This record gives sequence, C-alpha cells and structure tokens, in this order.
Amino acid sequence: MNFKKYRSFPSIDLPNRRWPEARILKAPDWCSVDLRDGNQAIPVPMNVDEKIEFFNLLTGIGFKQIEVGFPSASETEFKFIRELIEGNLIPGDVTVQVLVQAREQLIEKTFESLEGAGRAIVHLYNSTSSLQRRVVFNKSREEIIDIAVKGTKIIKKLASALNGTEIIFEYSPESFTGTELDYAKEICDRVIEEWGPEPGKKVIINLPNTVEMATPNIYADQVEWMNENLNNRGSVILSVHTHNDRGTSVAASELAILAGAERVEGTLYGNGERTGNSDILTLAMNLFSQGIDPCLDFSDINRINKIYEKCMKLPVHARHPYAGELVYTAFSGSHQDAIRKGLEIYRQDKPLYWEVPYLPIDPSDVGRQYEAIIRINSQSGKGGIAYIMEQEFGFRLPKDMHPEFANVVQKAADKTGNELKPEVIYDLFKKEYLDSKSPLNIIEYMVKEKENLQDGDKQVFLNAKLEINSRIKDVSAGGNGPIDAFFTAIKELGAGYYQLVNYDEHALTSGSDSKAVSYIQLKNEDGGKLFGVGIAENITTASLKAIVCAINRFLKNGSKINSKN
Ligand code: KIV
Ligand code: ZN
Repeated sequence: MNFKKYRSFPSIDLPNRRWPEARILKAPDWCSVDLRDGNQAIPVPMNVDEKIEFFNLLTGIGFKQIEVGFPSASETEFKFIRELIEGNLIPGDVTVQVLVQAREQLIEKTFESLEGAGRAIVHLYNSTSSLQRRVVFNKSREEIIDIAVKGTKIIKKLASALNGTEIIFEYSPESFTGTELDYAKEICDRVIEEWGPEPGKKVIINLPNTVEMATPNIYADQVEWMNENLNNRGSVILSVHTHNDRGTSVAASELAILAGAERVEGTLYGNGERTGNSDILTLAMNLFSQGIDPCLDFSDINRINKIYEKCMKLPVHARHPYAGELVYTAFSGSHQDAIRKGLEIYRQDKPLYWEVPYLPIDPSDVGRQYEAIIRINSQSGKGGIAYIMEQEFGFRLPKDMHPEFANVVQKAADKTGNELKPEVIYDLFKKEYLDSKSPLNIIEYMVKEKENLQDGDKQVFLNAKLEINSRIKDVSAGGNGPIDAFFTAIKELGAGYYQLVNYDEHALTSGSDSKAVSYIQLKNEDGGKLFGVGIAENITTASLKAIVCAINRFLKNGSKINSKN
C-alpha cells in the first residue's frame, strides 16, 4: 500500500492548551441532525410519516434541538416541516433547526417553510477549507467571507420580518478542520458582527469536522483555539459537529467539550454521511456511565433500536456501544465467571456505585435483562453455564457438579458449532439427568421406620419395585435412612457398589406446589464420580431418583449390571 501518497496533519501551535486537564461535568446542549445529515445519507430516505415517527422518537428521548431538514433542497423536507408546524407536533420546549446554503432564493424558501413556527434555528453554512476554496469554488478568502456575510444579512432581514417566530442563527464554516485557524476566526467574526448577538441572544457558531482528518486531540486544539480567540465569545454558543472518517468522532466530540464546546450535533447510532456523524447515544451514555445526567433518556434501548431500524432501514450493529444485541453478552468463560461473581456481590452488598467486571453499566438501566447477559458456546466456562441454570431455571447446581455439566454442554456446542440458547442448555440437562430412567428405574417404594424409644435407635426398611433392563424386580433392605437402605438394595441387586460423596437439595419453586430437587454424587468401585439429579414433591423420592440417575449414568459410561441378577 502506497502510504507515501499521504501526509500527516500538522499539529496546532497551542503550547498552553488546557483541554487535557479539563473534565466534563455536565451534558452539552444536544442537537440531533438525524432528520437531515442522517436522512440524506441513507439509501432509502424516510418518507414524511417515517420522519414524523422519528421526530416523535427524538422528542421522547429528550432532544430539545432537532435539525428537521433542508427545506429548500427537497419537497419532502419542506412538506415534513409544514406538517410539523401545521399539525402542532413540535413540543413547546423543542426548537426545530433548518439548514440552508448562503443563497437568497434558498434562504427565502427556507423561511417560507418556517411560517407559523414558534421558534427555529436557521443554520447557514458555506465551505471554507483551503482545499474547497481552491478546487471547488476557485474563490479568494475574501470572496468566501462575502458569501457568508451576505447570507447572514439576508437571514437577518427575513428574520426581522417574520411575525411571531423567534429565529436563532447558527453559522457553520463547513470543512472547518481543513480551514486555516486565523481564517476560520476571521469568517466567524465577520458573521458574528453582521448578526450582532448579545449575551442574552446568542448566536451558534458550529465548527464541523466535516471530514475527520486527524486525531481527536488536533480537533480539540482547533476548538480550544477558536474558543479563546473568537470575538464576542460571551454572545456565542460554541457548537461542534464531527464526522467519523477515522472512527474517532465520539472521541473528537468529547475532547471538543473539554476544549470549550457547549453544544454537540450528532445522530443516534452515528448515522450520517460516509462513516457517519458523532453518535449521540454513545456520547450520552458515556456521560451516564460517569455519573453525569445525560439529559437524554435511553432507558428503553430496545424500543429505540426498533424504531431506528424501521425508519432508517439500517441495522443496529450487534456490537454497537450500549445498544447492540451482544453488548451485554459474555462468550468467554473467564468473563462469564467474573460477571457472575460481580453480580452476586453487587446484589448482596448493594453498594452505592455500580461495579461489575466487564459491564460498564447495569444493563437494566437501558431496559436490558440480566438473563440475556450470558450465552453459551464451546468457549464458555462452567460458571456461565451454572449461572444460566440458576437464573433461567432455578437449579442451583452444587459447585462440584459445574465441570461435569459444563462438559456435557461444551460437547453439544462443539457439535453444533453454534451458540447455545438457555432452552437448549436446559434440554441437555433434562436429557442427561432428569430423563435418565434406564437401564434402572424406580417404579414404587415404601418406607417403614422403626424407632426404639428406650435407646433411641432408629431403623428404616425400604421395599421398592425397580425396573432393570426392562425386567421388574422387588427389592427390600434396611438401613439408617431411606438412602442408606436403597444403597444396600441396589448392591444386593448387583447394580454395582456405590458410595455417596455429595448430597445437595433445595426447593425448586415456591408456593404450595413446590418441588424439591436433589443432587447426589456417587463414587463407584473404580473411584469414578458422577452426579445424579432427581425432582419430586418430597425429598426422599427426589433423592432416590437422583441415585437412580447417577447409577444409570455410570452404567451408560461402561459399568455393568452383574449378570447373575
Ligand atoms: O458535516 C458538515 O460539515 C455539515 C455542515 C452542513 C454542518 O453537515
Ligand atoms: Zn455533517
């Protein structure tokens, strides 16, 4: 690749730059440009109904400034703005914004579209970079300034003639980042002077990173320089509008806020020309995750994803920060284990601040669920599988059982090569443990207890009807409890000699129809260990079923039932 064809962006001479030491302490004014920059960049632009639906989505999220289009450039945009105004669809605290080039006819048409609006931002732009001046316009610096100042004059005249509509003026030196800083200041100062803002009636000066050409620190330097050097700064709202050509538009907007920007233009999910605009969803949620009120509400992210996908006809990437389908999912075993431990401690200790490994925010804050956090594939660890069994199905598998069942799940995941959904994991559990009824099965049993009241000695007698290799057998044995008696009966049957290693139980559902689940780990004569699981209304039945299950698993794994029986 011929990298020599390119050169690096020069650094900005700003020896006392302050932005690296600054901190973001509050949300900027947000302005959504989804319905303009976003809409102009989608393969199938939105129709009026879709635009209205999207506009309502934006106001619902809490946007107070929304660029609704380029009414002089498209009939659909003109019609849409008229519908918003005539249909009284603009909430009182929301200001619509319209974009226009510095040409008289276009400005007039833009003002026509605004008739009857309570308040609007008229956003004027012309391109100022050295490249565009030379290649596109073939105009001198002064000629380009002239375009901007003339446009401002026309807007000022039309604004004062407009009845009942408050006009806020915004100016963008388009391709600002490719513009010499002294010249960008000169053109902005001339526009500001022409408009004549006051501290109580500010003008918006927007500095677009129209094409992202350098690292975000360079943009921050450019913004800080403008922040320090613009005339009449007290009457200016400094705004930024970044694009994502280098993939760092969110960082550029954040550093620009550190450098003095008070307002940020962008779109949901970063949609926009080429690689898109700054992603306001990510910017806002970044603030949220630092304990700062983003002044936007993303608490139902699934709904926002859906409306966005429907209107924009673009998918939300599965890995999109905060919103993607997979961003609260851990595939790696060690991540799953850490999340499980983190969530457990967070629930137990209820600390003041959220702190769970691998989860920068609590998924429930954006309407996502803990249940969806962990999915299982062949790389998943035992902790994640145990977590699914507990969270989704209420089985608290004993710790020693985790590796055994993880082995079962991982074999299945290897076979399919796919991620396993919780239901599939449950099916594997059911097949491996709960449905294990052959070659040994318990049909019925009866327990009798004898207690000597003199010496306190207790004895239990168990009669059971068992099925072994499709033959019914009656067995009976005694012991110090039903489990002990059952072991003796099994031994006499020739089904092998087993020792109980681990016993665990818990209620499975609450209420009157609650069932008990019993987990029993047995050791066979060769020292092999396996778990069995049984569910029943009473704990003795659950335990006997668990023993039968464990024995069946041994038998399936190669142990034999003694042939003389
Ligand atoms: O990216 C850009 O420069 C723009 C301007 C019109 C603000 O969208
Ligand atoms: Zn743009």
